[in-house]
Amino acid sequence: MKTLLVTGGAGFIGSNFILYMLNRYNDYKIVNLDKLTYAGNLENLKSVEDHPHYSFFQGDICDRELVEGLFSHYEIDYVINFAAESHVDRSILNPEIFAGTNILGTMTLLNAARNSWEGGMGFKEGKKFIQVSTDEVYGSLGSEGLFTEATPLDPHSPYSASKAAADLFVKSYFDTYKMPVNITRCSNNYGPYQFPEKLIPLMIHNALNKRRLPVYGDGLNIRDWLYVEDHCSAIDAVMHKGKPGEVYNIGGNNERPNIDIVKTILCHLSANVDKAIDESLIQYVEDRKGHDRRYGMDATKIRKELGWVPETRFEDGIRKTIDWYLDNKEWLRHVTSGEYQEYYSKMYGTKKTEAD
Ligand code: NAD
Ligand code: DAU
Repeated sequence: MKTLLVTGGAGFIGSNFILYMLNRYNDYKIVNLDKLTYAGNLENLKSVEDHPHYSFFQGDICDRELVEGLFSHYEIDYVINFAAESHVDRSILNPEIFAGTNILGTMTLLNAARNSWEGGMGFKEGKKFIQVSTDEVYGSLGSEGLFTEATPLDPHSPYSASKAAADLFVKSYFDTYKMPVNITRCSNNYGPYQFPEKLIPLMIHNALNKRRLPVYGDGLNIRDWLYVEDHCSAIDAVMHKGKPGEVYNIGGNNERPNIDIVKTILCHLSANVDKAIDESLIQYVEDRKGHDRRYGMDATKIRKELGWVPETRFEDGIRKTIDWYLDNKEWLRHVTSGEYQEYYSKMYGTKKTEAD
């Protein structure tokens, strides 16, 4: 039995990863450490809360005593660090907390793992620290080319700057101490349990409530969309086959302009829920500050070296995602009550529209 410390396991990707791992393997014990910020939700893990191979601890990855305590109590073999402040717009409103969790929290985990794993003869066998990072650390592309693992880091938002800083610390622990690490850099995920501050669930939620759909700028910024389960299988591949010290890009080979995503959602909802959900809901609003124009991932390395490819076609993934939100309106209602309302009016209440 191997033990995984999954941080941020109550968030979108972390919870999908825990469900994926428990469903796929019966020889991994999962310890989930999550602070339960606005983005963490234990409802995501209801189906496994009594699973004999799953334990949950509420706490902060910056809390050294707590993190070291987990390493003393469990023989942790892998750390998969998902915990982060993950939303670019929030990082523009309030950057400091991004430095705390994303940089100092990662440092705390690195130090605790090193203290527990390093002995007189180097690091114990079979240990690995996986840092879940993002394509945003590479900056923004023009109309041509793709990010490779050799693309220089050029983050623009406070969020991506904090992720890039964390990546460099993780790399430094390999370069300096030979700590076994991997960094994965993934493109935009979508799927069940994504908090409705992000493009796809926000548009679904607003459309269902006949609220305006705020499209930033000209709507032609491009993201490379990956179904979350494919991200989970990529991390699985990196855990088992990734070479220590390596970075792996993970992408969906699925670039789309934002406005096409919004129209696809409208098309599905209009056909399946209510004809009145149509393009008249779209409202072009003031652009995001420092808005990266285009992301596109070259995931050749992970395909060639680890045999990973994304399996979900966008048309299937987006349909499954929309249907999941339609089937889980209660989940959507819970996560959009309270703090969300305050965030939403702060974020969108003041945005200028075309009409202004
Ligand atoms: P999320 O915001 O849905 O979840 C983050 C989780 O981390 C939440 O459960 C939250 O409670 C927890 N958390 C926050 N601060 C914490 C702290 N100090 N201590 C412990 N737990 C804390 O994020 P997500 O979309 O699931 O992203 C997960 C990871 O993947 C992040 O590191 C993000 O940078 C990275 N990533 C996300 C995407 C994407 O498209 N969502 C793409 C590439 C990389
Ligand atoms: O690329 C990976 C990154 O993807 C992750 O590292 C981040 O954690 C994740 O949040 C995501 O960042 P983005 O900024 O790309 O995702 P978001 O869903 O916020 O926005 C996607 C695009 O949609 C972006 O161009 C901004 C635009 N957008 C977003 C929102 C929330 C809108 O036009 N309107 C909106 O209301």
